[in-house]
Amino acid sequence: MAVDVRTLTDAWQIGSVEIPSRIVLAPMAGVSVQAFRRQGRRHGAGLVCSEMVSACGLGHQNERTMSYLRIARDEKPLSVQIFGSDPALMADAARMCVAAGADLVDINMGCPVRKVTKTGAGSMLLGGGAELGARVVAAVAEAVEVPVTVKMRRGERNDSRDFLIAGPRFVEAGAQALTLHPRSAKQMYTGHADHSLTAELVALVAVPVIASGDITSRERAHAVLETTGCAAVMIGRGAQGNPWLLESLARGADVQPTNEEVVAELVRFIRETERELGEHRSTHFLRKFHGWYLKRGSFPRTLRQELSTLETTAAVEEALYRAAPGARPLVEAMEAEIAALGSGADDLELDLPISIYGGG
Ligand SMILES: Cc1cc2nc3c(=O)[nH]c(=O)nc-3n(C[C@H](O)[C@H](O)[C@H](O)COP(=O)(O)O)c2cc1C
Repeated sequence: MAVDVRTLTDAWQIGSVEIPSRIVLAPMAGVSVQAFRRQGRRHGAGLVCSEMVSACGLGHQNERTMSYLRIARDEKPLSVQIFGSDPALMADAARMCVAAGADLVDINMGCPVRKVTKTGAGSMLLGGGAELGARVVAAVAEAVEVPVTVKMRRGERNDSRDFLIAGPRFVEAGAQALTLHPRSAKQMYTGHADHSLTAELVALVAVPVIASGDITSRERAHAVLETTGCAAVMIGRGAQGNPWLLESLARGADVQPTNEEVVAELVRFIRETERELGEHRSTHFLRKFHGWYLKRGSFPRTLRQELSTLETTAAVEEALYRAAPGARPLVEAMEAEIAALGSGADDLELDLPISIYGGG
């Protein structure tokens, strides 16, 4: 009997969209900016996702949210995630995402944050037999030509098995892949992701299932792929300031960056983010990334503290170069690529709304 041996570097498909590896970079509000997604693709992710975007915000063409959607050719295939609970509004939002260049539209049914659930969106769409959730999926799938997917938790309560009712209903309504983060909404990020539930969902539906939650090593990624039969693994917190985790999965060997590589990657991230968000917004936004990156390599503990006191990205770069002078030539080698981003020449259609903070 033929054995189906799958590896993380296999290409696979969601509907007609070809995805070059089984490594997916998670949508993360306040993290998944374009620089993060591009970096993910460069380091081996086959699919990257935008953070959740408010369908309401899109409908109102809110200027701040408008500034978010920038899709570059080198981050594709890209999934744009939307959230909301009104089927017609969600359908309109999906059309806007596709017009902006999204290859896939993902519907958030995992966000446990009160600001979202009190509007009936996010993880609330899993309850009530997933009646409303299925109507949202049907409306979105009807509205766009690209594949529509759903990212969900197990349900609201800790012992919930709502995902087993919801998953098949969403597929019936038109979802062409499902992502499961097998925690309850009530759990938020406590406890652990129980991927035996992922295996149950895989057995129940005929579309690809992406496994999300606590996948932070090569060993864990392989174990989840093998024991659940999922189509792909999704990496979230493990990739924060650590694109080398994605690279380890893609290469099949652990990749440990040198101090110079860490600094070069961080400087590149800073420059790209500044081009995307502008200096004012990016200075605050980038602070958490400094700490995440400096956990790699071996840096003096005082460096992170020093970075947090600096007011400009130029000063941050200087401090980083003092810690790893050998990073300069690495950054210079990247500079032509980074500078080209400023022209926007590589961007697809822009100027459409995206994003408010959330989770899933
Ligand atoms: C800071 C943060 C923001 C998140 N934002 C989103 C989001 O916008 N949409 C979503 O579906 N999930 C979101 N999530 C959930 C992740 O996509 C992922 O399912 C979860 O973190 C579990 O994976 P991990 O253990 O690899 O981080 C977020 C998680 C974090 C930590």
